[in-house]
Amino acid sequence: TIYPVILCGGSGTRLWPVSRKSYPKQFCPLFAGGSLFQRTLERLAGQGYAEPILLTHQDFRFVVAEQLSDAGFQATRILLEPAGRNTAPAICLAALEVAAADPEGVLLVLPSDHLLADSAAFHAAVTAAAAAAEAGHLVTFGVTPDRPETGFGYIELAAAPEAGAQPFRGFVEKPDAARAAEMLASGRYLWNSGMFVFSAAAILAAFDAHAPEIRAACARARGEGREDLCFFRPEPEAYLDNPDISIDYAIMERSQGMVVPLDGGWNDLGSWRTVWSESAPDGDGVATTGPALAIGCRDTLLRAEHPDQRLVGIGLDRIVAVATGDAVLVADMDRAQEAREAVALLKAEG
Ligand code: GDD
Ligand code: MG
Repeated sequence: TIYPVILCGGSGTRLWPVSRKSYPKQFCPLFAGGSLFQRTLERLAGQGYAEPILLTHQDFRFVVAEQLSDAGFQATRILLEPAGRNTAPAICLAALEVAAADPEGVLLVLPSDHLLADSAAFHAAVTAAAAAAEAGHLVTFGVTPDRPETGFGYIELAAAPEAGAQPFRGFVEKPDAARAAEMLASGRYLWNSGMFVFSAAAILAAFDAHAPEIRAACARARGEGREDLCFFRPEPEAYLDNPDISIDYAIMERSQGMVVPLDGGWNDLGSWRTVWSESAPDGDGVATTGPALAIGCRDTLLRAEHPDQRLVGIGLDRIVAVATGDAVLVADMDRAQEAREAVALLKAEG
């Protein structure tokens, strides 16, 4: 059985001011047709997978439960982290959960901040990945890179990519610009999509080998945790003993495994630049949302989130402007990801 495990505890600060501390990007209606979290759920319907297991910060429990039932799903479990410890501890906790119920179970780990235009390609890739996972491999999905992106992980292939599952021999998480350019030029690397498939047994063995402290903390947190309706709360002190580390650094960089190429309109909505490119810009590259008006602009995103507040841009070139009821962001398109630093500064100001 395939158990979808949806990670939806991130803070999404690069999409400020729409993404907020109490309502991060995965729950926001960035496009028509529900939040990214809901689209992630909907993509899973009718495939014969088990009910999804959700992992989030305890503060998001009601948003998650509400969006889940709106999308017509029941979760077997919503695991509530007392504070985020990044994806490695979250995935370890989910693996222990699956292993307890079904030792042969396979996890399909999905972030909740992605667009995937081609669902058929996605499910075909999952089928190929699950076969490799049942044989004991850690499996990733690889996307053909088209720029020297430093915000992603890179998967090193032994040879040029081919269709279907193939071995990877290395993994580089978030390289610097020079390394990213080298990897792009070599043609032997794929981007890590951030989705993973592995059996509970295989990933737990990898934790034993590379991060036994995480497995120990998660086992304790699970053993002493408590149930509360559909929510499960791992014991907070034990969970907080986990280091704050992503699965990419804790496990994947230290492992070899299999990769399944996936080129189905995948995109990580990491910054406003990506939201712009996914917002159907017109012939001049202009995309507007809400009561926004662009005059003589090029390659610009104008988002007016509040129905009573007009947003007008004149003669703008590669600008992102996002106005919500209480905050306005105006940024150079190519530096929009620095919204993360802005949030940190605003927080420090109090
Ligand atoms: N439950 C839970 N708890 N979820 C979390 C936590 C946490 O502490 N931290 C992050 N998440 C969720 C986020 O909400 C997101 O859905 C997913 O885990 C991935 O976290 P990101 O913070 O978005 O990771 P990233 O985008 O920097 O990098 C990852 O994804 C890239 C592709 O999108 C890596 O896997 C890269 O290698 C990969 O290229
Ligand atoms: Mg991401």
